Amino acid sequence: MSDGAVLVTGGAGYIGSHAVLALLDAGHRVVVVDNLSTGFPFLVDPRATLVQGEIEDEALVRGAMRDHGVIAVMHFAGSIIVPESVTDPLKYYRNNTVASRSLIGSAVASGVRHFIFSSTAATYGMPEIVPVSEDSPKLPINPYGTSKLMTELMLRDVAAAHDFNYCALRYFNVAGADPQGRTGQSTAGATHLIKIAVEAAIGKRDHVTVFGTDYDTADGTGVRDYIHVSDLAAAHVDALGLLIARPGESHTLNCGYGRGYSVNEVLDAVDRVTNLKIERRYAERRLGDAGELVADNRRILETLPWRPKRDDLDGIVKDALAWERKLAEIRGE
Ligand code: UFG
Repeated sequence: MSDGAVLVTGGAGYIGSHAVLALLDAGHRVVVVDNLSTGFPFLVDPRATLVQGEIEDEALVRGAMRDHGVIAVMHFAGSIIVPESVTDPLKYYRNNTVASRSLIGSAVASGVRHFIFSSTAATYGMPEIVPVSEDSPKLPINPYGTSKLMTELMLRDVAAAHDFNYCALRYFNVAGADPQGRTGQSTAGATHLIKIAVEAAIGKRDHVTVFGTDYDTADGTGVRDYIHVSDLAAAHVDALGLLIARPGESHTLNCGYGRGYSVNEVLDAVDRVTNLKIERRYAERRLGDAGELVADNRRILETLPWRPKRDDLDGIVKDALAWERKLAEIRGE
């Protein structure tokens, strides 16, 4: 519990809306700034204040910081589609890097001293050593990863120059939904495996395409470290506590369970949970995909009190499926 409020950018989006719930449930006050380009107001818990606007709008952001007594920022807003970042890199440098620069500037100018940043495993590119640790080379292979890495570097330099500390959380594959059914992944045009698979399970798609069967993995399909979005949200709340308690320290932490599942194993879990046999169509590798991305998560376990509570693939699928059904109901599909 803190006296000041937390400003959450992208709080009407998938991961941001879960963080809003985790913050509120922990007793924090929350102000969301979201331009609603991909987010939805119905995902924002009514206990939070929702300000619709751009995070680059320094007058708006500084006004919100002042009016609500903001002490920390959690920065989720941004563009996240890897292939789109390849065809439209300037969109990613604007929405992710330039917008973050404005937001960090507003925080510094307003005396907001703590900043939690949504970074990504995409900053590592195609790591040679898996599980991948935070000190592994940062060699992003797409503008999305580069745009996020550039923000990490800005935060590093700003923390060295100002009374300011940060935590960059490098997410692996985020999936699932709030177990209480209050929010979940709702953006149209999903590309993420578990979202696509549960859409197929409720009849919105007739098959799932498996991209690549010739990776150097046990069954040849891509291996990822899937983390439940509510566990991830909880890590943010713990990171905030640490930044407040130790103002001189900043941290960069992988967020994953440290265990990988192949595409086929994920689809087996979906079949198990749904009692269906969803058609799999095997296809070529997707451009730019790594074979295996699994977190070395020792640092987050050493640094935060955080412990995974939902490290269970079937449970992740169940929660994703329950939200997909609810979403179809809400939208009258
Ligand atoms: N996959 C399929 N079929 C699909 C969708 C995905 O086979 O329809 C496979 C992918 O090839 C990959 C795995 O499922 O092997 C996971 O793919 P996702 O699209 O769910 O997630 P990514 O691993 O591609 O992306 C994640 C994050 C990105 C981040 C990236 C880092 O969502 O934000 O990791 O590489 F940039």
